[in-house]
Amino acid sequence: MVPVDCSYQVTVMCGIIGFTGDGKALEVLLKGLRRLEYRGYDSSGLALLTADGIRVVKRVGSVENLEREASSLRDVKSSVGIAHTRWATHGGVSDRNAHPHTSCDGRVAIVHNGIIENFEELRAELEERGHVFSSETDSEVIAHLLEEELRRRPDDPRGALTSVVRRLKGSFAFIAISTWTSDAILGARYNSPLVVGMGKGFSIPASDVLSFLEWTDDAIFLENESCAIVRPGSVESWLITGEDLDLKVAKVAIEVSEVEKRGYVHHTLKEIHDQRVTVQRTLTQDLGPLEEAAKLLRGASRVFLVAAGTSYHAALVGRHVLAELADVDAQPVLASEYALASRWVNGDSVVVAISQSGETADVLEAVRDAKSKGAKVIGVVNMPGSSLERLSDVHINIRAGPEIGVAATKSFTSQVIALVRLACAVSGREVTLDAEELGRCVEEVLEQEPQIAEIAKDLKDSKDIYLVGRGVHFPIALEGALKVKELAYVHAEGLPAGELKHGTLALIEKGTPVIVLNPSDETYVDTLSNCQELKARGATVIGISDRHHPSYDFFVRVPRTSSKFASVLLEVIPLQLLAYYMALERGAEIDRPRNLAKSVTVK
Ligand code: M6R
Repeated sequence: MVPVDCSYQVTVMCGIIGFTGDGKALEVLLKGLRRLEYRGYDSSGLALLTADGIRVVKRVGSVENLEREASSLRDVKSSVGIAHTRWATHGGVSDRNAHPHTSCDGRVAIVHNGIIENFEELRAELEERGHVFSSETDSEVIAHLLEEELRRRPDDPRGALTSVVRRLKGSFAFIAISTWTSDAILGARYNSPLVVGMGKGFSIPASDVLSFLEWTDDAIFLENESCAIVRPGSVESWLITGEDLDLKVAKVAIEVSEVEKRGYVHHTLKEIHDQRVTVQRTLTQDLGPLEEAAKLLRGASRVFLVAAGTSYHAALVGRHVLAELADVDAQPVLASEYALASRWVNGDSVVVAISQSGETADVLEAVRDAKSKGAKVIGVVNMPGSSLERLSDVHINIRAGPEIGVAATKSFTSQVIALVRLACAVSGREVTLDAEELGRCVEEVLEQEPQIAEIAKDLKDSKDIYLVGRGVHFPIALEGALKVKELAYVHAEGLPAGELKHGTLALIEKGTPVIVLNPSDETYVDTLSNCQELKARGATVIGISDRHHPSYDFFVRVPRTSSKFASVLLEVIPLQLLAYYMALERGAEIDRPRNLAKSVTVK
């Protein structure tokens, strides 16, 4: 028996996929895992239902490791299976803790995304009844509970599944196979996403649509707090409370080619380059009911912009955008710090929730709280069918296309453009950005890639890098710092240029790299003074501007544009490229930085 210790493995932020259909389970699962690797990459595993029972393989490390291991299953005929890529929180990562997890008798296998908060209590209870656990995960309890229920009522999988799900506390999406349920995959979701790809004679339940695009673009997005039995080409689903659900098949408007690298070495680099197209798309195409959203904002007594990470930096830019273009006072709130803002949220408030994935747990929790208080929610989302999209009263799709690199790049510029369009809809003015000009300017910035790659060589061994800007350029300094940290693993700090003298200047010594965002707008003169203060203390200054100045040791020119918010979009691109090339120089794992996951689905 494996003792429960305090370093238990909580399994979160993972990718899950299943297949039931016509004998190609292994192929679909392995391809799906490749597509899901951006969601978690500590370990992976799969389980196939075969004539001789359930076969499981799992391995620490990349899906490549698993593929090697799974070659032993190449000749196994199986039409039903489940698989998993994992991102764990506490403790180490081991083969044993990788998913799938099986019940004692091996007749049930499950993969799980989320947290079972009451797992210790359930585990103790199961052990008392003689169950033997083989991992330290919270997830394994699901396999043992299902085994008990299915053994008791093998002809009633719906009853068995419902009864198990009602015992679980936390947030979860799981799928399971068993020797009792032949071609059926049992699944459930509670505050964690689960969608089923539907094809002729097959079904693919998964944590996101990108995993099955190769096989089908028809999808059923399962309701929150529901259970499902997925069979080849059909799904039966009901709420945990027991009420049957009517399911609708939606078309997923994403091409498989959009999730490919298309000749680039990394998704991240491709996505930085995609911006020459995505900025124009977000600027010109239908993003959804902007007018309806604008009406909500016009009637609101308080507006909150709730987001995390890069999306929060877009919210910080959005504050300027809404103030300057629509005279709306919006308060940016970090989703994980929403608790304080919550006391001001009421029926007259509007929460604008910004999220690339639409699955960030803190954002969703804030949205649920706001809705419970009668506030209206405008979701600004990239992933179609996401939980945020479904929870929002009105949702705006930023149309950046799938973003696979864990570091957000093109979603940021599209979020900002969507916010500009929203602000213009509020004030009834023409959109202040020109698509053609913007596309051309992005191209001009990208042309400086070789020069930026050279600067990256100089900066790659820096211990610390500072980035400064004033006004709307300050959030860009924060975003640049985040890119440098997560891609190159170099400490970086973004701060308002005017704050340097209040403390951080003490850290500047000969050669300390400081990136100064200094476009020729109303912030120019003051930022230039700060730049000279930095130079006087020996800093190596990298100027990013449409205007050169002799105090810059390195200079990246961003084109002058007719709109201040366009220059904000343009100055983030050299920072994305700089972080990318620093990471490349340092040999970092670019598309999947260590310790991170694309979608943070737990608090
Ligand atoms: O999907 P979301 O936009 O809600 O994700 C928010 C953050 O987790 C995300 O921006 C994260 O900070 C990225 N790694 C930044 O590059």
